[in-house]
Amino acid sequence: MAVVTHPTQPIEGQKPGTSGLRKKTPVFMHRHYLQNFVQSIFDAIGGASGKTFVLGGDGRYFNDKAAQVILKMAAAGGAARVIVGQGAILSTPAASHLIRKRKADGGIILSASHNPGGPNADFGVKYNIANGGPAPEGVTEAIFARTQEIAEYHISDGPHVDLSTPGETTLEKMVVEVVDPVADYATLMEELFDFGAIRAMVQGGFRMRFDAMNAVTGPYASEILEGRLGMAKGTVVHGVPEPDFGGMHPDPNPTWASALMEEMMGEAAPDLGAASDGDGDRNMIVGRGIYVSPSDSLAVLAANAHLAPGYKAGLKGVARSMPTSTAADRVAKELGIGAYETPTGWKFFGNLLDAGRATICGEESFGTGSDHVREKDGLWAVLLWLNILAARGEGVEAILRAHWAKYGRNYYSRHDFEALPVDDANKMMSELKADLPTLPGTEIEGLLIRAAEDFAYNDPVDGSVSRGQGVRILFEDGSRIVLRLSGTGTEGATLRLYLERYEPDSTRHDLDPQEALAPVIRAAHELAAIRHHIGRDQPNVIT
Ligand code: G1P
Ligand code: ZN
Repeated sequence: MAVVTHPTQPIEGQKPGTSGLRKKTPVFMHRHYLQNFVQSIFDAIGGASGKTFVLGGDGRYFNDKAAQVILKMAAAGGAARVIVGQGAILSTPAASHLIRKRKADGGIILSASHNPGGPNADFGVKYNIANGGPAPEGVTEAIFARTQEIAEYHISDGPHVDLSTPGETTLEKMVVEVVDPVADYATLMEELFDFGAIRAMVQGGFRMRFDAMNAVTGPYASEILEGRLGMAKGTVVHGVPEPDFGGMHPDPNPTWASALMEEMMGEAAPDLGAASDGDGDRNMIVGRGIYVSPSDSLAVLAANAHLAPGYKAGLKGVARSMPTSTAADRVAKELGIGAYETPTGWKFFGNLLDAGRATICGEESFGTGSDHVREKDGLWAVLLWLNILAARGEGVEAILRAHWAKYGRNYYSRHDFEALPVDDANKMMSELKADLPTLPGTEIEGLLIRAAEDFAYNDPVDGSVSRGQGVRILFEDGSRIVLRLSGTGTEGATLRLYLERYEPDSTRHDLDPQEALAPVIRAAHELAAIRHHIGRDQPNVIT
């Protein structure tokens, strides 16, 4: 066994500002691209020597081979230990937990989240730091800079490591510790939630359906829901992770989890429906006959979290991304705790969680989590819902309706316009931004504009300022319009239009969201001249 040094050339690396590198699978597999990127990570963090890392991924195509390459490169770099999930599997929240629990120096997560997987689909590599969260911009910038100047990489020529059974082996001088990917995570969940109460509810006839979408949460959900909580076999569907996710698009929303939606709206619907994404950090919640928007889910979880043992002391604060509905703010106000509004992207929650200012965080894009890890966590959200259902002895619909009756309902929807010509989308946004100072005080579609601005975030912990995080227009009646261009799209530009209208009157909590939002939608189209700029007035995806 020996360390081999290969000469190499700079690659198209990771643009600063994103926390993981996502590319088409063949790109990663071609001409040592993966090796170059991994070497750039090690170089950017001051080398792997003497360090402990966590390694695992969502099981998509190339996951196993990539894990072997990374082990051999970590060994070549002199890493002391790599803790790797059995079969190279770890959900993103489980990886975050392992990094924290084992006090590792960092972790490498192999995933392209909710993007499809397969030989011609997407692959991704993400580096997380010692707090368990995605690398901050300073680190991703250093990795990117390294990809632009890299000249060689180092790799052990040792044999493949058997990752099929838990235990320890060595590669060069490095210990490879294979761990059960589920056990530690499941134990953490048992500490946070009242499994006894949930089990009793299940014994009382409660039924649920969990759609793992052929992705990483299958083994986690089977162990926790069917194993530890005693739900019927078959509660978890699409529960075996497949390299191409069985052709599914593992993104838990009403469009991509349509079979689950259909079941939940049907005659034989169980009490709760849920789904998670490729790497297990997103979640969708559906009650029998009623869909719970992610913004409402965050608000309900914040209002009821104290019913779970892990949060019985109450919350320190609630944080949401700016485009997420303000429903959670109303809960924070009632609880007398801090409410934080951050730019889109989980990394902005890290400082608030580390500083103990926020306990629960959420985004409208099906992301919810808490300070138990430093990633959003799909199964965590499902288990907190289960704990709340068990503690209150009520169904999802009753809880949601009671929540709206108390706080009012924030009708909410997101409209996505995908694959737009980049220039057209940019022109639309810059013309809208130029108009913003003239808008306050004007009326449109019967709605009076109170404020209009390009959102900037002042991080209350480290004082950093992030500008240009989306245009938001606030109306006197509490309605809001937010427009921003996606930072994760792969084809052209994607316009995300976020729409919100507040309705305090409980006799008006039964409207179809699109109808309730109709004047806000018309106002948005008028203000941004969407049709004029992009030639379209209908979105591709509505959530
Ligand atoms: C999208 C979501 C955002 C989420 C991100 C990563 O980003 O909107 O909330 O944090 O994916 O999962 P976007 O494409 O809007 O930039
Ligand atoms: Zn994900």
